[in-house]
Amino acid sequence: MPGIVLIGAQWGDEGKGKATDLIGTKVDYVARFNGGNNAGHSVVVGDESYALHLLPSGIINPHLTPVIGNGVVVDPEVLFQEIDGLEARGIDCSHLLVSEAAHIIAPYHRTLDKVTERFLGKHKIGTTGRGIGPAYADKINRVGIRVHDLFNEQHLHDKVEASLHQKNQMLVKLYNRRPIDVDQTTEELLKLGERLKPYVANTGLILNKALDEGKTVLFEGAQATMLDVDHGTYPFVTSSNPTAGGACTGTGVGPTKITRVIGVSKAYVTRVGEGPFPTELFDESGEWLRTQGHEFGVTTGRPRRCGWFDAVVNRYASQVNGLTDIVLTKLDVLTGLEEIPICVAYDVDGERYDDMPTDQAAFAAAKPIYETMPGWSEDISNCHSFDELPATCQAYVKRLEELSNCRISAIGTGPQRDHIISVHSLID
Ligand code: GDP
Ligand code: IMO
Ligand code: MG
Repeated sequence: MPGIVLIGAQWGDEGKGKATDLIGTKVDYVARFNGGNNAGHSVVVGDESYALHLLPSGIINPHLTPVIGNGVVVDPEVLFQEIDGLEARGIDCSHLLVSEAAHIIAPYHRTLDKVTERFLGKHKIGTTGRGIGPAYADKINRVGIRVHDLFNEQHLHDKVEASLHQKNQMLVKLYNRRPIDVDQTTEELLKLGERLKPYVANTGLILNKALDEGKTVLFEGAQATMLDVDHGTYPFVTSSNPTAGGACTGTGVGPTKITRVIGVSKAYVTRVGEGPFPTELFDESGEWLRTQGHEFGVTTGRPRRCGWFDAVVNRYASQVNGLTDIVLTKLDVLTGLEEIPICVAYDVDGERYDDMPTDQAAFAAAKPIYETMPGWSEDISNCHSFDELPATCQAYVKRLEELSNCRISAIGTGPQRDHIISVHSLID
């Protein structure tokens, strides 16, 4: 019963889509367990490039069953757009399963996301504006709409009414906006429910049965460890648990069924949105990384903030997620640098921190302590084994491994499926 969890070890966009696609060729199910269409996961197959937002990246592999688990927040309009877009390109989505317990992102969640950000002003989070935070807030406040609510008109009307009661007061009195109509919203959601119905299933039961039968399930995380609402750089986080534990709560599969936890890390670091980022580069090196690495968001198109590899973050990710393996991506991007700094610890007001400070103010004040490794100039995109990498490149990877407290089992050398060096198998 291999249950493999794959998560982002940094601040997102590490290449989870590519890693999922890679492992996806050998698994039976790929299940998303957190987040929603704030995610943007790229998969490149030959000349075709796919940007997945809500659908599991595994959907590109026709033999497996893609699942949207109960921990995901589903915007049905976005889901249908994504399905239509993929089907027009010849990708069959008819076997998709959506949890009946997943929460819905309604149009009012998107409105509230944008209005709240505007009101926060200089305290804003820099969200993707997709309604993620407000939908999870409703879930926790127990006024959320779940997928199965879409199939009972009276029940749905009552739920929408309960949910909008307080929001309309806020919209009108605080934000000076028009109230949202309960009847119209109910009608819109009912229509979306009709189209959603064929995909809806008891996904927790299906995944547990599959694991009991010896099938392999890959749990595809969205966002990342440092964006986790409990373990990340709060309040500059997303509103779900992208860490490994979220795979269990977000699908209804128990922790005893998880056999492997894979963390995906870039060979450097990027971040989108607001919040502290100790190794961020504001000089030409940052611009160089952004250009070389094509660091622009898949979901919002925003330029990503770039910085050197942060080993404190990776050690923390190993600890929080119980990582068994790391997939190190975008090593090719560093080709051409004479020297590569690695952040090994932080200096906070003269005190050395080898581990992540738990105090938000300390993390915001953290200054990176760097050690520097020699770079390489050879093109590595055609290397297919670790031994083929230039010696200085091997030494860089080995040092990252040592500092991360976890073995590096695969190395990305380019965006394509076959741009990968396998060091240890990720599947058995
Ligand atoms: P995700 O959100 O973690 O799935 O990552 P994104 O898809 O948002 O961003 C990762 C970007 O890096 C995508 O454009 C990928 O095609 C690309 N990518 C993934 N792995 C590699 C790699 O090893 N080398 C290079 N050059 N690009 C990569
Ligand atoms: P993938 O899965 C990078 C960031 C946003 C913002 C914060 C909160 O592609 O790695 P939200 O809309 O979730 O309330 O925004 O989280 N964020 C991401 N950053 N990659 C992502 O997803 C992200 N999803 C959300 O930029 O800072
Ligand atoms: Mg992304």
